[in-house]
Amino acid sequence: MSRTARVGVLVSGRGSNLQTLLDAAADPWFPADITVVVSNVPGAFALERAAAAGVPALTIDHRGRGRAEFEAELLAALSDVDIVCLAGFMRVLTPGFLNAFPNRVLNIHPALLPAFPGLHGPAQALAAGVTQAGATCHLVDAGVDTGPILAQGSVPVLPGDTEESLAARILPLEHRLFPLGLRWLAEGRVTVTDRRAQVALQPGESRWLSFSPPA
Ligand code: GAR
Repeated sequence: MSRTARVGVLVSGRGSNLQTLLDAAADPWFPADITVVVSNVPGAFALERAAAAGVPALTIDHRGRGRAEFEAELLAALSDVDIVCLAGFMRVLTPGFLNAFPNRVLNIHPALLPAFPGLHGPAQALAAGVTQAGATCHLVDAGVDTGPILAQGSVPVLPGDTEESLAARILPLEHRLFPLGLRWLAEGRVTVTDRRAQVALQPGESRWLSFSPPA
């Protein structure tokens, strides 16, 4: 993209991932501007974060209307954006929406995909007894968390972990990966071939984060 990319962020909850994108975009050197935030949940705290950053925010409640109508309203709200980021957005989007943004919808997921897609990634990891958990920043396709992977990282699963403690260890990793993936996408450094992403990395960059959280 030759100009600063315009980004719409979809949210459903507290919006900590939205906050990391807002913080990244506050840097004049960041290649993307957050121009609109849309919540499908009335009163979501993420809306307050958008307002505090001076970014237009609106609610489009998915309840009480069909999926096609809901997505048509989302598309109207996002008519002026280049990239859509899903920051804890808990609705599945259909091709009717996704086709408007081919390989331009970015998601953050709290698991090492393709393991543990869908809801409750950290709980799924605990139930499976894995020793490493993590997060994935990926492009969105019509499946549930099946799109091309841009960046991943891991954290250890520790004895006594609960869903909450593991999710809390993964979250700072999400906050590193999401702005990284958005930067690459906004700078036009991502290509997708046969459902796999390639990233034109610059010196010092990696698609894998070795993340050592405080003990
Ligand atoms: C994050 O952990 C995000 O990865 C997850 O919801 C949380 C939202 O937190 N998303 C999914 O599980 C999507 N499958 P946030 O509102 O503080 O960003």
